[in-house]
Amino acid sequence: MTFPDSPIFLPDEAATVACGGRLAQELRNGDVLALTGGLGAGKTHLTKGIVHGLGCHADVSSPTFSLVHEYQGGTLSVYHFDWYRLEGEEELPGIGWQDYLDADGVCIVEWADRFPAALPRGTHWMALETLPEGGRSLRMIPAPEGAL
Ligand SMILES: Nc1ncnc2c1ncn2[C@@H]1O[C@H](COP(=O)(O)OP(=O)(O)OP(=O)(O)O)[C@@H](O)[C@H]1O
Ligand SMILES: [Mg+2]
Repeated sequence: MTFPDSPIFLPDEAATVACGGRLAQELRNGDVLALTGGLGAGKTHLTKGIVHGLGCHADVSSPTFSLVHEYQGGTLSVYHFDWYRLEGEEELPGIGWQDYLDADGVCIVEWADRFPAALPRGTHWMALETLPEGGRSLRMIPAPEGAL
């Protein structure tokens, strides 16, 4: 996946969704996207842009309670995770994490930095940040400490 090295400024929600749409064109089967950034940083809206950009026009919401949402019907299937409420990494087998990694499609993980060692090598790490003036920034980041 090629993506600019410098941070991208996202002035509003629509810009976050549009950026996800551009990102969708870069994704390939088997890609894993690890999203970091605090509460409300825009992780779900970026994912929404990706899902819609792949041609699936389902509603996209945070899989906070269901832990994973599957979006089919686009050019790639998307498996969307949120690890905010997971107690520990040992819960991942129970949600079928490895099966999703092995499946056709792309995996997108909100709060991926909670369990960096669970992400495979080659994962694309991205950070969203809320800016003091209200918009967001998005940049590629190196895999955090503890990642494979
Ligand atoms: N670039 C932006 N500028 C301003 N507001 C934005 C931007 N992108 C998204 N938002 C707003 O931020 C709020 C949170 O967005 P979103 O739910 O996508 O964040 P999140 O990172 O998934 O949050 P959570 O950690 O709760 O899962 C929404 O109200 C959304 O409209
Ligand atoms: Mg979210």
